[in-house]
Parts: sequence; structure tokens; C-alpha cells
Amino acid sequence: MQTIFHGRHFINLEDFTKEEVDTMIEVSLDLKRKFAMGVDTPYLQNKTMFLMFFEQSTRTRNSMEAGIAQLGGHANYLDSSSMQVAHGETAKDTGVILSRFGHAIAARYCNWGVGNKYLNELAKWSTAPVMNLQCDLYHPFQALADLMTMKEKVGDLKRVKVSIIWAYAESHKKPISVPVSQILLFPRYGMDVVLAHPKGWELPDWVIDQAKVNATRYGGTVTITNNEAEAYAGADIVIPKNWGSWVNDQTGATLVGASKVVDDKLMAQKSWKCTEAKMATADKDVMYMHALPADRDNEVENSVIDGPHSIVYDEAENRIHTAKAVMTLLMGGR
Ligand code: CP
Repeated sequence: MQTIFHGRHFINLEDFTKEEVDTMIEVSLDLKRKFAMGVDTPYLQNKTMFLMFFEQSTRTRNSMEAGIAQLGGHANYLDSSSMQVAHGETAKDTGVILSRFGHAIAARYCNWGVGNKYLNELAKWSTAPVMNLQCDLYHPFQALADLMTMKEKVGDLKRVKVSIIWAYAESHKKPISVPVSQILLFPRYGMDVVLAHPKGWELPDWVIDQAKVNATRYGGTVTITNNEAEAYAGADIVIPKNWGSWVNDQTGATLVGASKVVDDKLMAQKSWKCTEAKMATADKDVMYMHALPADRDNEVENSVIDGPHSIVYDEAENRIHTAKAVMTLLMGGR
């Protein structure tokens, strides 16, 4: 177990050693157990954090707000459109001031080519920890909750086949940050990770290269394929989820909130949907995961997401336990 977290930023899980990630999971499990038993956990009394959102959220916002309240602290929810950032105030000025007012700043900013840079600029100037609530590149809170859920359900994850599968959706162009964080993290636990997507929905080469480095170091594998059937075949865990094509958006156009979501290139991939028939080719005890919100009927059949293989609600619940763990370690401690 590691203990040196106080004051650190939480932008990318790659900034933390595997032992440190293990500690985050141990603390999450401890907090989950205490929550179930009604044991108070006032580890962040009188601490304030600021939650800046440039985009919508259900799980992330509420896991942070409820989480810090349960730890005895307080969160200020900040809609970026009502902040001076909407008038061009810089990340430097925002970071300096908010960190003088409180004990942490967290932000969700998913615009392609902008969000991660903004978070790093905040972190450069903030004297308090900066936490990533999802940017264009990473969603560390989601990946941590996914890891916790898989460890709870399976135990030792070595050589467990987990398939991250692109899925068709029309709801909005989603960032690549969930699959990126997952493909970087899961090989660190010795998993056999398969990434499947149609041509045009690749993750950046540097992500795949780093995932393979992680696999080599920790004894897992990383396989990239355009063959959806290969990903489902014999899988222990499947994570079919949409992400936007940054390859088709080289102009730097935003991936979030874009007005035209469905185009011919996307429509041609409508068959990439998680169905009962595809699930039947996986391991008999296969688990279906999704970060949510899911685009039901497009990404997945209702009978799958509501069926016996789905663990999406346990996965979503773990967002609050992992959020509390990260806040406690970074804002509390020594
Ligand atoms: N999975 C996730 O981040 O959910 P929200 O967008 O609702 O926060």
C-alpha cells in the first residue's frame, strides 16, 4: 500500500504506479464497506472543492457532490457557461483563484484538442489538487470504477479476456477518453485486452503503443482488430460503447455537442450493436459493462443491458466509492 497522495493531481492514471492504483482500489473498498454499514467517514471535514463542468453529467457530477458530502466536505458546482471563463478568463487565473478559495478543483472539458490542455494548465497554476472529471483524452474516474468492478466480480484479472468494442450510437459524438483510459489501465492488471472498431474509429497510435508497453510489463496482451466477432468470441467481459471518430475530425472540430451526429460514414456501421446473439458467442458467464449513459437500441439491445449478464449498475455505483477514495487520498492524508 502506498501513502503519498496528498496534494497530487489526478488527470491520468498513468501518472500513478500500479501499487498506487491498488491503494485507490483498497481505499474504495474500505469506503464502500463503511457506507454499507452506515459508518461515518468524515475524512474531509471543512474542505471545499470546485467542480467545473463544460458539459453535461449525471454520474460524475453526483458521485463527486454526494461523495464529498459523505466525507464531511462541500462541493461548489460550477457551470462553465456562467463563469468568467465564458468571457475568456484563462485557466491560470481560474486555477490560482479557486485554489486559494478551497482544497481542490475538478473539471470536465471534453472538447477535442482543448480539454486535456486546459486541465494541465489549471494544474500548473493551482496550489490544490486538480482532478479530471473527463477530458478529450482521459476519464480516470471511470476507468478506476471499471477496474474496481472487475476485481470485485472476478478477483485476479490476469489473462481475463476483456473486449473494448466500438458500438453505433446517434445520441452525441462521444470522446475517446473512456476506451483510451481502459486500454491503458487494463493491461497493467495482466488482462488480455481486445480493442475492436470499424476502420476510421482508431485510437491514436501513441495510446496503442503505451498500452502494449503496459501489457509487456505486466504480462497481459493487447490485440487490435476490425473484426467484431473476434472480440466477442470467448470474452469474459465485453464493453461495447460508442466513441467519436477523431480520425474523421482532423480539423479539430469538437467531438461533443456537434450539431450533426449521424452521417453516412457512421450509418454504415449500424451493425456494430451489442446483441444477445453476439453475447452468446462469448464465455457463458460473460459480463456486459458500459460507462453509461447508453444509447439503447443503437449501442445495445435492451435485453442485454437489462439482462442477466449486465453489471452496469454495480459499475455505476462504484463511481461514488472510487471518487470518495481519490478525494480522500489527494485532499486528506498528510
Ligand atoms: N460515465 C459517466 O461519466 O457518466 P456521466 O457523463 O453521467 O458523468
